[in-house]
Amino acid sequence: MKKLLINMFLVLSSVMPLLSFSEANPTNFSETCEDGSGETGSSFGIGFGLVLDFGLYRNSCPEAESIVYSWVETAVSQDPRMAASLLRLHFHDCFVNGCDASVLLDDTEGLVGEKTAPPNLNSLRGFEVIDSIKSDLESVCPETVSCADILAMAARDSVVVSGGPSWEVEVGRKDSRTASKQAATTGLPSPNSTVPTLISNFQKLGLSQTDMVALSGGHTLGKARCTSFTARLLPLQTGEPANHGDNLDFLESLQQLCSTVDRSVAITQLDLVTPSTFDNQYYVNLLSGEGLLPSDQALAVQDPGTRAIVETYAADQSVFFEDFKTAMVKMGGITGGSNSEIRRNCRMIN
Ligand code: HEM
Repeated sequence: MKKLLINMFLVLSSVMPLLSFSEANPTNFSETCEDGSGETGSSFGIGFGLVLDFGLYRNSCPEAESIVYSWVETAVSQDPRMAASLLRLHFHDCFVNGCDASVLLDDTEGLVGEKTAPPNLNSLRGFEVIDSIKSDLESVCPETVSCADILAMAARDSVVVSGGPSWEVEVGRKDSRTASKQAATTGLPSPNSTVPTLISNFQKLGLSQTDMVALSGGHTLGKARCTSFTARLLPLQTGEPANHGDNLDFLESLQQLCSTVDRSVAITQLDLVTPSTFDNQYYVNLLSGEGLLPSDQALAVQDPGTRAIVETYAADQSVFFEDFKTAMVKMGGITGGSNSEIRRNCRMIN
């Protein structure tokens, strides 16, 4: 029955969703890649020698892209925040020992996963969507599509269904047989980071200052807990005048939210104006002092270099979209280490 539904989707998708998909993506796939193994992509795969390419699943699992897209579209239609959660999963995967799906591993006997590392605990979402995608892919083309590639495709599709740009996802990532809670604890940027720390975090992974500011635009979607932006409320508590163009009304509304509801569960939108649309509103918010995380607002106030990029993106969404696509491909090209496989179940090693 499931297979039948997938086949029905594939027939429909060849007419409907992929039509808008290819409209959003001006690059004609068949013009850029050889059929079959595909043309080598632009992955820079930091240090591990795994080369990604565009056409890997063309023969081995032609349904892969449409199955991922279909599940993401359904999940986001049921819960618009899921787009944000899936985008973030890919980021939290790639920043910890490369994009190798280590973020998806559950704690098992002999393996401590990354889900309980402080940046992830009670915060990451979307695992069950990835499970559904993997389960369908395993029935259509077993042991072919890696969980890390699913994360990369789901991140792209989340952006697309939220109104953002599309790009071709390079594939060929492998899934790790290990995870590192320690690396997840130290390697993921903190919302209290200063701009120099953010720049250096990203640079270590081959991502530039521009990539960092563009990727931070992922915060045009989704939500954060009060515990993630407590430091934004400090000027109100210390009675110090708002600095760097802080918007006091905005900060007061946050303080109200975080004091009236249980702080550990209270959440609010990262982009208060268009929370479920992938657009450049996040940067507009930063310029009016309405960035939610301290690390977001810092981009507009701490460093003239990042401020200039914020201004450019706030003024011209198409520049943001171009830079975001470039940066996502670069981030997705941080490939994992050795000793890897294609997991049958994304939550555990084979
Ligand atoms: C620049 C450094 C970054 C920092 C310090 C940071 C930090 C955070 C924090 C603290 C949250 C809220 C977590 C919570 O309260 O539960 C969050 C949410 C989010 N982040 Fe980031 N992040 C960064 C970069 C990125 C990047 C590169 C992306 C993707 C391209 C991204 C995508 C998201 C999304 C979409 C959410 C909302 C998730 C949801 O609603 O489920 N972030 N981030």
